[in-house]
Formats: sequence, structure tokens, C-alpha cells
Amino acid sequence: MIGEAEAFAQAELGQDHTGHDWWHTWRVRNTAELIAGMEGADRSICILAALLHDVADEKLNPSKEAGLDKVRSWLEERMEDEARLQHIMDIIETMSFSGGGGRPMATAEGRCVQDADRLDALGAIGIARTMVFSGAKGRPVYDPQTPPRDETLKQEYRDYSKGTAINHFYEKLLKLKAMMNTDYGRRLAEERHQFMLAYLEQFYREWNQGSEA
Ligand code: ADP
Ligand code: NI
Repeated sequence: MIGEAEAFAQAELGQDHTGHDWWHTWRVRNTAELIAGMEGADRSICILAALLHDVADEKLNPSKEAGLDKVRSWLEERMEDEARLQHIMDIIETMSFSGGGGRPMATAEGRCVQDADRLDALGAIGIARTMVFSGAKGRPVYDPQTPPRDETLKQEYRDYSKGTAINHFYEKLLKLKAMMNTDYGRRLAEERHQFMLAYLEQFYREWNQGSEA
């Protein structure tokens, strides 16, 4: 079933180039399995939820409900155990609220998968995804005259017309470390957080080189 879920996710996400491509799912699946091992969570639930989490994404479907229905139907055709199926759907549904806040994860498996998804927004990979996403939305890399906004406000979060890639670090990425669910996830987040701080420092150093004279 894991192999089938991989093929399904690959087919659904193969065309996306704005941060939800198949390789994002591949990394989240692997990191979720790693954290699940450290946390003693059910590995196959974590792997399936990770593989399917972005197939249901609002941005890749006509609506959030349509995305969730697609994943539910897929699972219903293959999974006898209603409780396991519901567990996976709960994880994916809770993750789909990540943008504008939302309820906490109810299970250890959910906490592992959510941490894995958040980790993929951090570090060297997170920086690359932010730049690609910004380019796809027509946002500039940086503008010293555009300060970061409060993106906890839902309408601001999805309004890409204003703001810059560098602002996204302050609006979201640097806040993720404090939101991690698991001890092991937090450790990995800490390392990636430090890398982003070093990156920003170097970015401003290069930006301002020669301008202080
Ligand atoms: P998730 O599905 O993990 O909640 P999103 O769909 O919000 O993530 O974003 C996908 C990728 O694009 C992430 O790496 C994220 O940091 C980046 N991204 C999201 N919103 C913005 C934005 N407003 N500006 C720049 N990058 C963004
Ligand atoms: Ni994701």
C-alpha cells in the first residue's frame, strides 16, 4: 500500500513546481519515518499520511473539501480498517490548516508528520523552496523598504502580491522552531534555524557591501 501511495502522490504532484512537488513529499515521508522511529510512533501511519498530505492541498485542488475527498476515496478503496483510515485523514486535515494557525495534532503520529513537513520549510532546503515559491508568485527576493507583515492574519498569508522572499523568513520560517511538536524534531529544527540565521547575516553583508562608505 505504501508503494501504491507513492505512485499516487507522484502522479498527482509531479507537475507542481511551487514547493509541493513530489520530492517535497519524498523528503517529508523520510523525515517523518525518522522522527517516528525516535518517538515510538506507528511508522506506517506516518508514512501514509506523509505521502498523501499534499495530494489534498487546497492549492492543488478546486477546494479544500475536494482535495480531502480525493484522498479519502483513495484510502477507502484500499483500507479495511476504518480507525486507521480516519487517523490518517485526521492528520492530513489538521495539517491543511497549517497556514493560518489551527488545532493541535491529537496523536503522536500526527506530531511526527507535521514536524517533518515543517522541517522541510527550514534550512538549506527551506531557503531554496522559499526562493522558488517567491519567483513563481512574482515576489522580489528583497526590498529594504518593505518591512515584514503579520502573516498570522489569514488573508495576508495568502496575499502574495505584497512582500518579499526575505520577509517570509520573519513572517513564518523563523517562528517554526518554537512550534515543533517532538523532541527530535526540535533538535533538527534548531540546526536548520541556525543555518537560516547565518544565511540572513551573509545576505545582508553582501547586500550592503560597499554601501556604508
Ligand atoms: P506548507 O504546505 O508547508 O504549509 P506552503 O504551501 O505554505 O507550505 O508553502 C510551500 C513552500 O513555499 C514552503 O517552503 C514555504 O516556506 C514557501 N512559502 C509559502 N508562502 C510563502 C510566501 N508568502 N513567500 C515565500 N515563500 C513562501
Ligand atoms: Ni507539505
